[in-house]
Amino acid sequence: MTSNPPDLESFTTHCRERVETALDRFLPPENTLPGRLHQAMRYAALGGGKRIRPMLVYAAGQALGAPHLALDAAACAVECIHAYSLVHDDLPSMDDDDLRRGKPTCHKVYGEAEAILAGDALHTLGFYILAHADMGTVDSQRRLHMIELLAQASGSRGMAGGQSIDLAATGRQLDIAELEDMHVHKTGALIRASVLLGAMCSDQLSDGPRYALDHYGKYIGLAFQVQDDILDVTRSTTQLGKQAGADRALNKPTYPSLLGLGGAQERASELHGAAIESLISLDERADPLRWIADYIIGRGA
Ligand code: IPE
Ligand code: IPE
Ligand code: MG
Ligand code: MG
Ligand code: MG
Repeated sequence: MTSNPPDLESFTTHCRERVETALDRFLPPENTLPGRLHQAMRYAALGGGKRIRPMLVYAAGQALGAPHLALDAAACAVECIHAYSLVHDDLPSMDDDDLRRGKPTCHKVYGEAEAILAGDALHTLGFYILAHADMGTVDSQRRLHMIELLAQASGSRGMAGGQSIDLAATGRQLDIAELEDMHVHKTGALIRASVLLGAMCSDQLSDGPRYALDHYGKYIGLAFQVQDDILDVTRSTTQLGKQAGADRALNKPTYPSLLGLGGAQERASELHGAAIESLISLDERADPLRWIADYIIGRGA
C-alpha cells in the first residue's frame, strides 16, 4: 500500500478523535439502565472503524465553512446508523460473521437478541442526535431536511433496501447493472448522504456546490463498496479486522466475481476519477474530499 500524505494523516486523526469524543458523549453511559443494552451499543460504536462517513461529513462541511459543532452532530448521527447496519449485517441470519473491527461481533459477545436491540437503539439514536443536539446556527427547518435525507438514505430506498437486494442476490448471478444497483443502495446511499449532511451544516450552501458535492458522494459511495469487494479477496482477516473471503464463502455476487480483479480495480479507478472531476469548481478547502477519494481506492483495509 502507498503511504498517505501527511495532510490526510492529520485530517483523519483529527476527525477520528472528534467523532470518538462526541459519540462517547451522545451514547448513554454503561451504568445507565438497561446497562447491558448500553454496553452493547457502546461496544459496537466506540473504539474502532475507519470513520469514513464522519470524515466525509467533516470534509464536505469544511469545504463550505460549516461550524464544527453542527458537523459533530451530523458525523455522529451517520456513524450511529452505520454502526447499527454493521451489527445487523453480521447477524447469523444475515452474513453470519464472527469478527468486526478486529474484535468479536456484537452478537458473539452479547447474544443475538441483545445485538438486535443494540442495532435498533443505535438506529434511533442517530435520528435523536439530529433532532436534539446543539447545532449552532442550523435551524429546525434545516434539521428536518437533514433527518429526511438520513431517513431516505438508510431506509427501504437506501441502505436497508440494498441489504434486501443483497439477500435476494446471494447465490445468484447478477448482471453489472443489477450489481451496481445493489451497491448504490446498500453502501452508496449512506456515504452520499454523509457528504450532503456535512454540506447542509453550512450556512452558505448554494445549488452549485450542492450539486458538485452530491455527484462526488454518488461516485465515491459506489467506489467504496467496489473497493470493499476487492479487499475481501486481496487481504487477510488480520489486515481487514473482519473475515476475509466472506463474499465467496457465501456465494455473493461482487465486482471481482463479475469483472475479475483487474476489471473491478479499473471500475474503482474510473469512479475515483469521476468523483475528483465533480469537485472541479471547488477551491482548496475541498482538498480533504480529494484526499479521502484517494484513500478510499488506495486503502488496504
Ligand atoms: C463496512 O464499512 C461495510 C460496508 C458498507 C462496506 P466500513 O469499511 O466503513 O467499516 P468500518 O466502519 O471501517 O468498520
Ligand atoms: C454491508 O456490506 C453493507 C452494509 C449495509 C452494512 P458487506 O456485507 O459487504 O460489509 P462487510 O464486508 O461485512 O463489512
Ligand atoms: Mg452484507
Ligand atoms: Mg457483511
Ligand atoms: Mg464486504
